[in-house]
Amino acid sequence: MQGVTIVDHPLVRHKLTRMRDKQTSTKTFRALMRETATLLCYEVTRALPTHTVEIETPVAPTTAEEISGKKLVFAPILRAGLGMAEGMLDLVPSARVAHIGLFRDPASLEAVEYYYKTPEDIADRLVIVVDPMLATGHTAVAALNLLKRSGVTDLRFVCLVASVQGVETLRAAHPDVPIWTAAVDAELNDHGYIVPGLGDAGDRTFGTR
Ligand code: URA
Repeated sequence: MQGVTIVDHPLVRHKLTRMRDKQTSTKTFRALMRETATLLCYEVTRALPTHTVEIETPVAPTTAEEISGKKLVFAPILRAGLGMAEGMLDLVPSARVAHIGLFRDPASLEAVEYYYKTPEDIADRLVIVVDPMLATGHTAVAALNLLKRSGVTDLRFVCLVASVQGVETLRAAHPDVPIWTAAVDAELNDHGYIVPGLGDAGDRTFGTR
């Protein structure tokens, strides 16, 4: 699949298995979500540019590398994206956070906006949109539409589980936005849930029903 990176690492596969298991407790699910997001963040930031700086270690002067280029924003789609954003901030604590509130109309499965708050200079930043489940793709497309309307040109999308349909929908609407995911599942059910998936990621993260 063009533009899609499946993060194929034993730790990611193991943690995702535990998250898929319906016996996994809320506490464990939340911790695994955070840990897996950190690993996905490592991959999505792998090709960030760096430049050379001169420093002095306690032993000798040397040259070393620092990250350069645009500053980062993590943009969780509320509310399930919050659990992933925590894990990403563990790795890049200086990043800013944009919150995107979208809910899925249960009848049409279309995304409806209810909250949108971003850093003022978001157009100058690299924005990594996070949502654990890329199901129909409608919410992700709507989130990227909002960010592009704010002038953002450098975007990436990270999820935990994608559906084939979700990937196709997102890639068709935003071919310039690469996707990172831990897995791509084949199907969606009549309620727009990914099969086998892991259930409702928001409910499982926050212990609601
Ligand atoms: N949202 C979820 O939380 N899970 C799905 O399977 C689909 C959308």
